[in-house]
Amino acid sequence: MSADEPQGYDYGAVTKSPVSWDDFQDLKRVLGFSDRDQQLLLRAGEMIGPRLEELLGHWLDQLGPWVHATFSGPDVERYSSTAGARFGRGMLDGFTRTYDQKWLDYQHEIGLRHSRTKKNRTDEVDSVPVVPFRHLVASIHVLSEIPDKLLDGVSSADAAGIRAAWSKSLLLQVALWSRSYVTADDW
Ligand code: HEM
Repeated sequence: MSADEPQGYDYGAVTKSPVSWDDFQDLKRVLGFSDRDQQLLLRAGEMIGPRLEELLGHWLDQLGPWVHATFSGPDVERYSSTAGARFGRGMLDGFTRTYDQKWLDYQHEIGLRHSRTKKNRTDEVDSVPVVPFRHLVASIHVLSEIPDKLLDGVSSADAAGIRAAWSKSLLLQVALWSRSYVTADDW
């Protein structure tokens, strides 16, 4: 981990995802997540990176009460600050990383960290034990929004392409995380 990465951000240093490469490709295929989507996300990432806080603010305003509840407990300030920094870093990864084995592995880790298996463990905090799965699913709608001002100068066709690619990415992410919430057989 480099010194300027958030504490507990372990990209590239986690165990292998139990999701097979074939199952991963299968999800991408049905979602229609293509190389062009990956390129569009990379392009958007260059614009969004320097203005990430604006985007996070736009989303978190709408998820307010859920976010408040998820960090509650005696360590609320420390927890929301360190986990919030990793949240921002991980969201940017969704735009800037290539969706390879390392990405797949870190998706599994993020799923674990929302679920009962590992929530609170990275920051060693005493907070609520799980992010309810229904909140993950419902937040996809909110997190799909990328305000116009952040895509300034992009043609309307490309902006629509970026938004579609990002929606597919979020669905892919939460589908992968669901592996930490259900039994292997049911996944
Ligand atoms: C599609 C929706 C969501 C995405 C893409 C997302 C993304 C992320 C990412 C990237 C991290 C950082 C993982 C790490 O490196 O440690 C994170 C952590 C976290 N997120 Fe989310 N998140 C989503 C929904 C939610 C919702 C709805 C809540 C609760 C209201 C939530 C609560 C948390 C908490 C508590 C952590 C820290 C977990 C821990 O390490 O204890 N997330 N999220």
